[in-house]
Amino acid sequence: MAASSVVRGEDAFKKVFKFYKRKSPPPDFSDVTDFSKGLPSDKIVPAVLDLSAVSDSEAARAGLQPVKSWRAFGLQGYPGFIFISNPFLRGSQPFWIRQCLKTYPQKPNVCNLDMHMSLSDTQDIWGQSVHGLSSSPSGKREPKTLLERLRWVTLGYHYNWDTKTYSANHHTPLPADLHLLSVQITAACGFPGFSAQAGILNYYRHDSSLGIHVDESELDHSRPLLSFSFGQSAIFLLGGVRREDPPTAMYMHSGDVMVMSGQSRLFYHAVPRIIPGPQGQTALEMEGCCMAFSSQDSTLGGVLSEEDWVLCTRYIQSSRLNVTVRQVLGPGQRFPETPSPRQKTDASQAGERRSRRCDSVETSET
Ligand code: OGA
Ligand code: MN
Repeated sequence: MAASSVVRGEDAFKKVFKFYKRKSPPPDFSDVTDFSKGLPSDKIVPAVLDLSAVSDSEAARAGLQPVKSWRAFGLQGYPGFIFISNPFLRGSQPFWIRQCLKTYPQKPNVCNLDMHMSLSDTQDIWGQSVHGLSSSPSGKREPKTLLERLRWVTLGYHYNWDTKTYSANHHTPLPADLHLLSVQITAACGFPGFSAQAGILNYYRHDSSLGIHVDESELDHSRPLLSFSFGQSAIFLLGGVRREDPPTAMYMHSGDVMVMSGQSRLFYHAVPRIIPGPQGQTALEMEGCCMAFSSQDSTLGGVLSEEDWVLCTRYIQSSRLNVTVRQVLGPGQRFPETPSPRQKTDASQAGERRSRRCDSVETSET
């Protein structure tokens, strides 16, 4: 079966998801859109950006290239979907990777390990993983480090996976650097005034996937949803409002940014597969973004230590990081005091639609 031969019909999304998830024989990837190749395609159209919304120096503060240099695309049939092919300055991705691995999992942020472990045990995930991750393979199976068992982290308004809601009473400050990055991307994409209120970080191993879902727990869907990819590449599937709509498959490489707005904001999507590069190389290394570069970087929060970068490199040799940033409330909007019956119904529907979300990203061992 070629992915493109899937006909409209019952749960066409699931068919395509299974096609790309299959281990053996490996699927044919020839239908997968690759924005980084800039291949001529009748589906890919240039996206119009607001070049005056972010100055070059503001962009550099978030580790981004000048907006005029970004390669931003839309996809025919997906209104509001914008794909920006790695807009980061050379050498700035290591900073964001370090934030995802070392900084954002720290308290008061919440992670999957907190569900099973005491606060003191998850206090220093990075520190406790340094030895295990950095030691050279001894041949015998070592117990997994906390970093290897990390599956998700939530920021800002913390997401409740059971009720599928964000709650007013469980909020911690969203990291200022991630807020700045998100505000700049959204402003350039024509959404001034975006407020980054919640973040969900996904940590994918080489065999992880993310089930078919729609992100609709946010209370204002007129605001875009942002997604950043770092580390190993992956296949992303973007469908429509119905499971019968066959999705388009595309590669997400390290540094790629997606903006889901307008109608696409509520489209089904999923990540069926991580595609490890040759010997775990990432697009990041292939483009020559090596240690020498990263340690010289001074645009963001200072220099990355060599020890930090060695550990980050080791981690992303087999893993992918995904950061999604969401505005939960519209301007002036508040959380409802108590859910009305209608909101309860919406929440349970959202739960149903997102129920496969953590199937594989969060493994049973955590
Ligand atoms: C999500 C999501 C996609 C990805 O976290 O809701 O859709 O690329 N992530 O990992
Ligand atoms: Mn999603």
